[in-house]
Amino acid sequence: MYVFGKKEIAAFVRVANSGKHFRYRGGEGGECDTFEKELCEKLDARYSLLLTSGTAALICGLTGLDIGPGDEVIVPAYTFMATPLAVLAAGAIPVIAEVDDSLTLDPVDVERKITARTKCIIPVHMMGLPSNMNALCKIARRHRITILEDSCQAVGGSYGNKRLTTLGNAGAFSFNYFKIIGAGEGGALVTSDRLLYEKALIHHDGGSAFRGHQLLIKPFCGSSFRVSEFVGAVMRAQLARLDGILKRLRANKAALLAELDGCPAFTLNPVHCQRGDCGVTIALRFESERAMRRALKELKQNGISSDTPYDSGIHVYSRWTPILEQRGAADPRKNPYRLTTKKYHYAKDMCPRTLAILASTLYIPINYQKNAAQHRQLGRHIRKLLQ
Ligand SMILES: Cc1ncc(COP(=O)(O)O)c(C=O)c1O
Repeated sequence: MYVFGKKEIAAFVRVANSGKHFRYRGGEGGECDTFEKELCEKLDARYSLLLTSGTAALICGLTGLDIGPGDEVIVPAYTFMATPLAVLAAGAIPVIAEVDDSLTLDPVDVERKITARTKCIIPVHMMGLPSNMNALCKIARRHRITILEDSCQAVGGSYGNKRLTTLGNAGAFSFNYFKIIGAGEGGALVTSDRLLYEKALIHHDGGSAFRGHQLLIKPFCGSSFRVSEFVGAVMRAQLARLDGILKRLRANKAALLAELDGCPAFTLNPVHCQRGDCGVTIALRFESERAMRRALKELKQNGISSDTPYDSGIHVYSRWTPILEQRGAADPRKNPYRLTTKKYHYAKDMCPRTLAILASTLYIPINYQKNAAQHRQLGRHIRKLLQ
């Protein structure tokens, strides 16, 4: 999260003093409910559900989409491992597809990987970069499958004139410490589908049968991904800052881009919706891993913050060991790979294009604490060092 200050502390104190720390049994109409309304207004969505994490949002979203044993869900080869883990938690099988030059899910490979068992696609808007939603939504419509947007790293981003999480059937945000806005931990599910929302609501709260919700469906056995009113209050303060945060990040990124554009040492990775990009990073593409590593060394030696997605460990499918080895649950009887007759095969080199793209890409993070003029200066410095 980029900013955390007096407003969040005041929100926390407000809840502490109210004595209403639980969102139900007294907390109704309070911080969590109000946050959900405010989030829906911002996104132009009908329903949202504040949860303990982005992973919980994905799991409840998959429940809402009726995903379960025997189903296949397509995920990108470049994402935090939580994306495929959520699929396994739902009892389904993650099918791993390539990313394209934009570092987001490649629609061509998605279409290649669709089978009769495919029920859902999870595009991940990595590093605030919108996925190719036009192409992915067309594929989903053609094959009558659903889309759950993993927007955990892209809170507030958009695609065309819609906010991310509202282009597919549902979308997930993470509000953990490393995200654009957050409360240390947290997440939200967004949808405009009433039944999907109700299923997610019930899954997120095992006590939902006793809360007096006006539900269209009968409660089933849920779990507990509820958050406290403290999280709701802090997230309201964070949400109020979101547009300002994005404005600054985008202005800084535009300033840096203006200086780097046309530099012969690299190309700029394409972005599917420039205006909707959250602006958290710039991705530079080199002709080879060797060239990228040389540039990375040069930048680091000169004190310029930079890294490569290839080294980001848990975000690269080839390091998802428990998944690659198909250890889908502690108890083998619950292992989704054993709950289906089809045999799956994963290998570390199964998405070579993704590996090649990640290994030749270098990120320059946008510095929220600095302004556009400082980013222009940074751009000139990088250009001088690398050309
Ligand atoms: C792309 C992506 N998906 C899902 C998650 C899971 O979010 P959380 O850590 O809040 O469970 C993250 C968090 O890092 C993420 O980056």
